[in-house]
Amino acid sequence: MSAMRSPRALAVGVLAAGMMSHQPHAQSFGRTPSASEIAGWDIDVRPDGAGLPAGGGTVAQGRAVYDENCAACHGPEGRDGIRDRLAGGQGTLASGQPIKTVGSYWPYATTLFDYIRRAMPYQAPASLSADETYAVSAYILYLNGILPAEGGLDRASLPRVRMPNRDGFLPEREFTAGWTAAR
Ligand code: HEC
Repeated sequence: MSAMRSPRALAVGVLAAGMMSHQPHAQSFGRTPSASEIAGWDIDVRPDGAGLPAGGGTVAQGRAVYDENCAACHGPEGRDGIRDRLAGGQGTLASGQPIKTVGSYWPYATTLFDYIRRAMPYQAPASLSADETYAVSAYILYLNGILPAEGGLDRASLPRVRMPNRDGFLPEREFTAGWTAAR
């Protein structure tokens, strides 16, 4: 009967043993990443376009990329898919039934490139080339009436695209230079 111990005492004992057995290895944990590994992670694109890679693509090329890689979840025209709606909704944000899409809500077109490059297609993120990402971004902007059918995007033109809701955001006070919280 003396072998009966509380589960908590047992758990603490296991934890302590685990910490002790791992301590000698703590110094040798991990390794310095290689330059190419860092380059793979260092892919952020800022609102002003800083960080955009070379390359480019057209709305027409983007339609093919979209149909093959995106339409299954986002619907044939960026609507009526099983996942987030990407097109339409302009002018609905202040209504009782706001429809938030890339076209109605997002303030910067550069974020579209950044987001697709790091997160889409959902089941295979980062699998598109830079050209394909420019092209599919152009196609989504076309679906929103922001680019013409014969339009395209590259590093120079993408930051110049003005999104319809660009001025629809108010800065948070604590992110404004010079603002300090009253304590
Ligand atoms: C397997 C389903 C699937 C596929 C395929 C897919 N997506 Fe998505 N997508 C999602 C899901 C789920 C979300 C929401 C993710 C979240 O909120 O974290 C999303 C979100 C997005 C958004 C953000 C929408 C918003 O307003 O927040 C964009 C833009 C987008 N996807 C573009 C694409 C593009 C471009 C492709 C093709 C290259 C693609 N997606 C392929 C499932 C998918």
